[in-house]
Amino acid sequence: MNTQSKITRKTIMDIRKMKEQGEKISMLTAYDYPMACILDECDIDIILVGDSLGNVILGYDSTLPVTMDDMVRHTQAVTRGVQKAMIVADMPFMSYQTSVDAALANAGRLLKEGHAQAVKLEGGREHADIVYKMTYAGIPVMAHLGLTPQSVNQLGGYKVQGKNEDAAKNIMRDAKILEEAGAFSLVLECVPEALAKEITATLSMPTIGIGAGVHCDGQVLVINDMLGISGRAVPKFVKKYAELNQEMKKAVKSYISEVKTGAFPDERYSFK
Ligand code: KIV
Repeated sequence: MNTQSKITRKTIMDIRKMKEQGEKISMLTAYDYPMACILDECDIDIILVGDSLGNVILGYDSTLPVTMDDMVRHTQAVTRGVQKAMIVADMPFMSYQTSVDAALANAGRLLKEGHAQAVKLEGGREHADIVYKMTYAGIPVMAHLGLTPQSVNQLGGYKVQGKNEDAAKNIMRDAKILEEAGAFSLVLECVPEALAKEITATLSMPTIGIGAGVHCDGQVLVINDMLGISGRAVPKFVKKYAELNQEMKKAVKSYISEVKTGAFPDERYSFK
C-alpha cells in the first residue's frame, strides 16, 4: 500500500456513519474527468458512474447497450479526478445476471481497472447470492430497487413502482434480503414517498432516493439532467439547478458569429 498517497476518499464506513448521525448523503452521477473534478471540489459525498452513461453520454435510448468496457473506461476517467468522494460504479446489463462467477469477475474489473470503491447492481432477492459473494470477496455493493431501468422491457416502461400493497411489500422484503446479504446501501428509484420512508426506517443501511421523496438518507440525480445539459424533457422528480444547454448554445452561437464577422480573434488573442 502506498502510505504517501494524498487520496483519502470517503469509505462505506463514512457513509454508514452519516446515516447513524442523521447527516443526509449527497450523490450525483459523473462519467468523465472534468465533471468528476467539479463534483469533488464541491464536496459531494458519493459519485456514481451510472450506466445512465448509455442515455446521457453515449446517445442510446436505454441503458441496455452499455458494456463492461464502457463502464471501466468511464470509471477510470472519473477516478482520476477524485480525491475525496466515494466512487461507485454501475454493473451494466448482463454483466452480473448470467452467473456468480461472471458477476465477481466483472465487479472485480471495476475495482482493479476502474479504481471504484464499490459497485451498484439492480434487482432484488434473485441477486442475493451475488451480493453475498461480492461482499465477502471485498467488493462493497450498493443495491438498487424500485424502478430498475435495466428491466424496462419487463416493467413495461419507466413507471413508479411499489404503488399497491403487494408490490410495496415485495420491495420491502427485497430490501431486507439485500441488507442481510451484505449490501452497504440501497438506491430507491421512483417509489412512493411513504414506502421509501418505511424502508429507510426499517433498514440499518442508508437509502439513497431518486424520485423517492425526502425521507431517504440521501439523494441522487443524474448530473446531465440536474444541470439541464440535454435541453430535453426530464422526469418529474428531477429539479433542474441550471439550464446549461441554453448557456452553452449562447456561447457557441457567439463564437460562430464572431468567427464569421472576424471579431474573433482580436489583438488580445493574437501574437505580435
Ligand atoms: O445509472 C444511473 O445513473 C443510476 C441512477 C439513476 C441511480 O442508476
